[in-house]
Amino acid sequence: MFDLRRVPIAKVPADEAGPVICRLMDLGRVDVHAKISRDREFRYVPILPDFVDEVRSMGYEVGEGDAHTLDRRSPQERIAHALSHIPELEGSLPDRWEFVGDIVILKLDASCERYLDEIGEAYAKVLGARTVCADVHGVSGEFRRPSMRVIHGSETESVRLENGIRYRFDVTKVMFASGNTDERMRMRRLDCAGETVVDMFAGIGYFTLPLAKFSGARRVFACEKNPESYHYLVRNVRDNGVGDVVLPMLGDNRSIPGSNFADRILMGYVQTTSEFIPVALRMIREGGTIHYHDTFYVGEQERKVDEFFGPLCEYEVLGIREVKSFAPSVSHYVADIRIVSRSPRRR
Ligand SMILES: C[S@@+](CC[C@H](N)C(=O)[O-])C[C@H]1O[C@@H](n2cnc3c(N)ncnc32)[C@H](O)[C@@H]1O
Repeated sequence: MFDLRRVPIAKVPADEAGPVICRLMDLGRVDVHAKISRDREFRYVPILPDFVDEVRSMGYEVGEGDAHTLDRRSPQERIAHALSHIPELEGSLPDRWEFVGDIVILKLDASCERYLDEIGEAYAKVLGARTVCADVHGVSGEFRRPSMRVIHGSETESVRLENGIRYRFDVTKVMFASGNTDERMRMRRLDCAGETVVDMFAGIGYFTLPLAKFSGARRVFACEKNPESYHYLVRNVRDNGVGDVVLPMLGDNRSIPGSNFADRILMGYVQTTSEFIPVALRMIREGGTIHYHDTFYVGEQERKVDEFFGPLCEYEVLGIREVKSFAPSVSHYVADIRIVSRSPRRR
């Protein structure tokens, strides 16, 4: 079953393989008739001859190798086949998953509980993953801690590459909201030339990093209360080369000193965000902008923003956008709010 054609093969480091291969696939650069192979450190991706220079210019070594013919079944079909000896799993295997570098995250239902080892092994083998984790209950608590079970492998730290940013984190310790990609992209596109920015809920640098790297901000104070997230924030600031712009701060954002100094404030937290508005209003300069995140019933977002900000300051809503659906009839929104005056408007 071997096709002994010689084809160009790009060498992609394993820890960034997931998103890079998806991107190359999306761009139509991969020879889909040949097979991707792997070893511990690299994935060997067959590239169409016309795109060799382009892939090299993306920073990947391209050599030559044998094109092994591709198993034409989808990964879902191959996973189902690998587990077909367990009839109880029929119909309950997830056909979607998330990659963080070479770690795969699955949502499993209760019927899978007895077969976690077999499931982990099958997904790892078919998807070429080093580790497979099951997302048990989503995120919870003040630190938005994930609840993950490692069902194959042991390495739980990896790097997610997104829009020119490297996010390193441990998937069992720190959340990553893949649904917030557009908002992270928006932070990258803001024009913050010369601004002082405060990220009150910095996490591992979700918004801080794209903003610091691309928006022209002069200074970003990135505050994070969870020491585990802070550890990755510091590392990611260094790895993304923004140490001269970002000052990571470990602690509660209510303890950030100073008033009237921020041109822009990011409030990337939901559900209890309104409790922190007085802190943001202490720090923001008049004329500055707050990116206020919260969850609202769909259709109530404008009224709720007015309910929260109206009694505290004079403001102008520059825009409100839906970040993602959160629950039935409830969405996560971000409101861009320009603070006109830090005193309440007369009603
Ligand atoms: C996980 S992020 C929210 C999601 C993120 N904005 C995104 O786009 O994926 C929120 C972070 O705020 C941190 N946090 C919660 N309360 C805080 C506080 N009072 N001061 C500083 N950080 C806080 C949590 O530890 C968490 O890391």
